[in-house]
Amino acid sequence: MLSKNIIITGFMGTGKSTVGKYLAVTMGKQFLDMDSLIEEREGKSIPDIFQQKGEKYFRMLEKKTLKKIAKEKNMVIATGGGTLLEEENYLLAEKEGLVILLKANSTVIFSRLKSDEDRPLLSGNNKLNKIIDLMKKRKEKYDCFPYSIDTSDLTVEQIVGKIIGIYRRKYDE
Ligand code: S3P
Repeated sequence: MLSKNIIITGFMGTGKSTVGKYLAVTMGKQFLDMDSLIEEREGKSIPDIFQQKGEKYFRMLEKKTLKKIAKEKNMVIATGGGTLLEEENYLLAEKEGLVILLKANSTVIFSRLKSDEDRPLLSGNNKLNKIIDLMKKRKEKYDCFPYSIDTSDLTVEQIVGKIIGIYRRKYDE
């Protein structure tokens, strides 16, 4: 198979890391999770980075991290849910590989994240409302991504199969 990168993006809870890991093993690529990389480099969890340094600082780390890793070859990269909403990041990712947007409906996302404490943008009460509001705000941008897969009713294997299909068609294998 070709050594192009695949960049998996999409809202929190759409399955980016789970799908990315499985995809990487299936395709013989290396998997990188941007949030984990940022946590390692900062020596802090994402909630602590948000709390101690703020969202702006976190977005700067995302940009720096993406710049470093996107130029590598043969990677599957799972971004954070907000990373590619920034145009410069999207253009870089798109230049260095195939960008796939994973989607899911708000009910599914809520059921996946209802006990989660690691997403500062959804912390506190009314998690479902926070999910719905943030999805609304991001919808216009997410809708512009050329390749998207709704993961709500699919297994990981099915999603990976679809991504491999898109990859083959795009790079004409
Ligand atoms: C964010 C998503 C999170 C993480 C941070 C901000 C976002 O990643 O990067 O909490 O803005 O959507 P996941 O999508 O992997 O949860």
